[in-house]
Amino acid sequence: METRMSTQIDTAAADVGMIESGTGPARFARGWHCLGLAKSFRDGNPHQIDSFGTALVVFESSDGQLNVLDAYCRHMGGNLAQGTIKGDAVACPFHDWRWGPSGACTGVPYARRAPRLARTRSWPTLERNGLLFVWNDPQRRPPPDDVTIPVLDGYGTGEWTDWSWNSLLVEGSNCREVIDNVVDMAHFYYVHLVKPTFFKNVFENHIASQYMSATGRPDIELDSNYGQQGLLMDSWATYYGPSFMVNGQTLTSGGISSEGLLINCHYPVTANSFVLQWGAIVKKLPGMSDAEGEQLATTFSDSLGDAFMQDVEIWQSKTRVDNPLLCDEDGPVYQLRRWYDQFYVDVEDISPDMVNRFEFEVDTTEAQAKWDDEMALSVAARANQMAPANQT
Ligand code: FES
Ligand SMILES: [Fe+2]
Repeated sequence: METRMSTQIDTAAADVGMIESGTGPARFARGWHCLGLAKSFRDGNPHQIDSFGTALVVFESSDGQLNVLDAYCRHMGGNLAQGTIKGDAVACPFHDWRWGPSGACTGVPYARRAPRLARTRSWPTLERNGLLFVWNDPQRRPPPDDVTIPVLDGYGTGEWTDWSWNSLLVEGSNCREVIDNVVDMAHFYYVHLVKPTFFKNVFENHIASQYMSATGRPDIELDSNYGQQGLLMDSWATYYGPSFMVNGQTLTSGGISSEGLLINCHYPVTANSFVLQWGAIVKKLPGMSDAEGEQLATTFSDSLGDAFMQDVEIWQSKTRVDNPLLCDEDGPVYQLRRWYDQFYVDVEDISPDMVNRFEFEVDTTEAQAKWDDEMALSVAARANQMAPANQT
């Protein structure tokens, strides 16, 4: 029996780059995390959100405020998300202890008096643009005024649609993997099937932005949402803190432009899983009915969803690389990760290189030329295949 073996043993093993995967972050990021559509928590019931390594309960008090507390009751561990809302408090299903928005125990129905100073943890919340946010800070400090989620112009004015919203639990990956996309120019071509023509990043304080122009790929089948010949895409995408990204997109195709705002956000469930959420609102075109507007928002959101699935597939099978081997076209991966580090250290330990303004534009000239060649070849090959066979 023939035996084959490779004799190409590397004699200079020390020169082989080894992947360092490091260990995941030891805590959860400081910042505002979006939990989803505010209205989805307003059905008169408490809701459980598994996040930050624990369980939270979201409930609406009689003033219409959405409140977030630790879900596990400080009495004997009942799950408040399985309880009921009674007035301004959430009542535990186990012995009916009542917990108010501030985390104070507001009553123990069967006791002469509630234990003095009984409290559970209350989490700061923010409702903005129809979305509910919770503030996580391992140092348990309130959110600074200048660290917030901006009001989106147009949202709720009637000129824009309401949210089309989706979510997905991603297991086997830490949410920091999502962040690298901010600087990853080349993956837009290979994973999302558009060709970037301009790509720039700006980081400053808790905000990180990506500015991109791209075109559709003529070598991709026309039924792909993004892969349309003649498609032009202008996009800005900004992270406000560690987990909430707003992406403004103008898509022009066949002489018609549509403007959409997309959200890409996540919250950690455990160190090795997170919930990814995304949604879209679109600006209604002149003469567009509400129903047509909603349809356009759904299309936008679905195409973003498709794009996420393309990312998720990569995330779920890849490994973490703390020491990526980069080329000039790869964008400022290390600087971005340094920016992201600010959310994982105590406020006192934030260093200037994490928050100072940083700008970088990727030179896309070479990549574009190579991609154009590749696409032209692929289009020609397809045309050849489809041409009728020579009859001799
Ligand atoms: S465990 Fe919640 S009331 Fe007893
Ligand atoms: Fe991506």
